[in-house]
Amino acid sequence: MKIAILKEHQAYEKRVAATPETVRKLKGMNIDVVVEKDAGLNASYTDASYIDAGATIANDSKAAAGDADIVLKVVRPDGEIANMKRGAKLIAMLSPYNNKDAIKTYADKGVDAFSLELVPRITRAQSMDVLSSQSNLAGYRAVIDAAAEFGRAFPMMMTAAGTVAPARVLVMGAGVAGLQAIATAKRLGAVVSATDVRMAAKEQVQSLGGTFVMVEDEETKQAETSGGYAKEMSDAYKAKQAALIAETIKKQDIVICTALIPGRQAPRLVSDAMLKTMKQGSVVIDLAAEQGGNCEGSVLGKTVQLHGVRVVSPANIASSVAVDASALYAKNVLQFLTLIVDAKTGQLAINWEDEIIKATALTKDGAVIHPNFKA
Ligand code: NAI
Repeated sequence: MKIAILKEHQAYEKRVAATPETVRKLKGMNIDVVVEKDAGLNASYTDASYIDAGATIANDSKAAAGDADIVLKVVRPDGEIANMKRGAKLIAMLSPYNNKDAIKTYADKGVDAFSLELVPRITRAQSMDVLSSQSNLAGYRAVIDAAAEFGRAFPMMMTAAGTVAPARVLVMGAGVAGLQAIATAKRLGAVVSATDVRMAAKEQVQSLGGTFVMVEDEETKQAETSGGYAKEMSDAYKAKQAALIAETIKKQDIVICTALIPGRQAPRLVSDAMLKTMKQGSVVIDLAAEQGGNCEGSVLGKTVQLHGVRVVSPANIASSVAVDASALYAKNVLQFLTLIVDAKTGQLAINWEDEIIKATALTKDGAVIHPNFKA
């Protein structure tokens, strides 16, 4: 059996789907591993380090993927899909809700595609949870980027020349990225508050030393799905929440936006009118920009100045911590592979009835099989 690791060719993407460490583990399972030339270079993993781990290097994606049984990527392939053989398995973060047409292409090409963002949040699948591993780093990096953009310091400093006030940071959405943003901002000495619509977030925010700011009513008792995600709130709730945020935001220096609703547009939480009330030199980092943005006027991949506030909307922020993001993603992928490969023989052995396989498999034998994406 042969596994190919392709280079990511998209702009902003520096991560890679396997590291020398995970390649070594695959080799230990009697699997041949081929890595596309320079696939790991942007994440500081050289071709030589993959060769040391037992891989061979192919000059391009066609040479790498042509006869591979499994192709590993970080994000969805573009032209590379044409290079894959029928029956090959594709494992990546395929962003299926944003790329429904691509799912049909996988089926038409006879590629069985698995989308790792769909791994269910169950205990057995924790080690495969790419959303957690990548969001955690994204939350950390958002605060570091905010600190770099901010013309003032984060911690309180009492010096002979005067006192520097601590930065006030508001985190919107206290999921995986938001909780790490809170922890990072606290470590830097900021005064941190956070908001969410899920009641469970309250205790988590408080345990990290943040103040929880939330409209609590009957609706918030049912704001969480059985999978632990937020639901879209009613217009009445949104209006109450907007009033509370408007009051809170004008006292903040930094706003880190991480609020998402799976499969939907990100909720709009910071309006242009709210930005106007913020202090000159404040910073908003909109991590939700890829899903439409939490902040009005944010532009994906750009920094815009709105009413004296710098609104930063990083494209693919986890990629800016590419070494760690790749290492964690590669381990997630390795764990997922244990579901589809027999570790002793190194041969494919897929239990299509497995809960995790059912949740992630988009296509099989030329057809779209995932219930959320069937025509
Ligand atoms: P996410 O990335 O989908 O959303 C980020 C946050 O935004 C969530 O906390 C969500 O409640 C919040 N949000 C959505 N709409 C909002 C609004 N209108 N206003 C304010 N906040 C809003 O969520 P993420 O980070 O993937 O985590 C979701 C849940 O899954 C959490 O409960 C987390 O603890 C849980 N989880 C469970 C795991 C497991 O059991 N294996 C692993 C990772 C996370």
